[in-house]
Amino acid sequence: MKIILVVGARPNFMKIAPLLRAIEKHKASHQSPVTIHHLLVHTGQHYDYEMSQVFFQDLNLPKPDIYLGVGSGTHAEQTAKVMIEFEKVLLKEKPDLVIVVGDVNSTLAAALAAVKLHIPVAHVEAGLRSYDRTMPEEINRLLTDHISDYLFTTSKYDDENLKKEGIPPERIFCVGNTMVDSLLYNKPLAQKSDILEKLGLITNRQSPITPYALLTLHRPSNVDSEKPLKKILEAIHEVAKKIKVVFPAHPRTQKRLREFNIDLQSPITNYQLLITNPLGYLDFLNLMMHARFVITDSGGIQVETTVLNIPCLTMLNSPIWAITHKQGTNTLVGSDCQKLVKEACKILDSSPVTSHQSPVTNHQSPSLWDGKAAERIVEIITHKK
Ligand code: UD1
Repeated sequence: MKIILVVGARPNFMKIAPLLRAIEKHKASHQSPVTIHHLLVHTGQHYDYEMSQVFFQDLNLPKPDIYLGVGSGTHAEQTAKVMIEFEKVLLKEKPDLVIVVGDVNSTLAAALAAVKLHIPVAHVEAGLRSYDRTMPEEINRLLTDHISDYLFTTSKYDDENLKKEGIPPERIFCVGNTMVDSLLYNKPLAQKSDILEKLGLITNRQSPITPYALLTLHRPSNVDSEKPLKKILEAIHEVAKKIKVVFPAHPRTQKRLREFNIDLQSPITNYQLLITNPLGYLDFLNLMMHARFVITDSGGIQVETTVLNIPCLTMLNSPIWAITHKQGTNTLVGSDCQKLVKEACKILDSSPVTSHQSPVTNHQSPSLWDGKAAERIVEIITHKK
């Protein structure tokens, strides 16, 4: 069985790494009648060291077998470029299955190119919905799900979304969350990161950690226009009066800050904001593990904070990870900046701010978020005719 796995952008790498490990394990076991040959294709949607290569190092990913080098562009340009280049790969390699993950432009483009050549597609992280079609990721999710043959979901909520849309139940497999597989596998390594020292949040391993909140922002709705971005930064300013804020800024956001002449480095009274370039997987995981709370508009961070039991305030109007609100540590604040400040204060008031070297992790994660999702996926694709 020949399988092509596709990655393109930052949030794909941690979802594919456990699958590659599970495939290698399957190959080594020699117990299955099915022999897997696999190729890793990187579309090149993300290409900077901080957005791509560092994840290959941190996650111990093999060098991609094929690099498409599509780079940046408008949505149509990026999607089309991946389709054109990936179709050539498919025609040459003739795989039996293409595996795509998540909801970035590369996910949809690769799935579309494959399905038009009648090559079966497996979508990992199927069934997530924000029901907000202004988000490019929602369009990517919807379309990828509807053309996929295997829909691997992370929870029963995702299964219900798919069934409501008329997707045949025999295509849906609730397997758990490969992002959580990566997190649980890499936590011990992340503990060893020296990022707290590097950012001056600790002087040595024995000293107390300066309490901090961790911030990420990159959604077009939050950062692409001047007014909403400034409003959010004013609210962050209020939070930073009470606790240090560490902000690894996405390239999209850095670009907008320059365009709008917003200088976050300028000294503002009590403004304890530490802005950095995007960080690698292990450094960022370490920062999440020790944060007092996280403010984000990312999808994946909502999952990771729930598993780590760290409070998360999400600046998105439509939730995609319903389970992290129902069973996790996630609070949706949307674009309501007053609510953001209020919720941040609530967390800070709930217990005194102390430095905490070891985060609480003995709480209950959602069912099947146990580190074994990728193994279940490999089991299913090698056993189904
Ligand atoms: C993409 C995904 C989003 C995901 C996010 C995580 C889509 C539609 N969006 O958004 O779902 O949450 O990645 O990072 O696929 N850039 C660089 N260096 C890079 C990559 C990008 O400078 O390595 C710049 C690009 O030139 C572009 C901007 O950042 O102007 C945005 O990149 P793009 O791939 O369009 O989307 P993201 O905002 O990263």
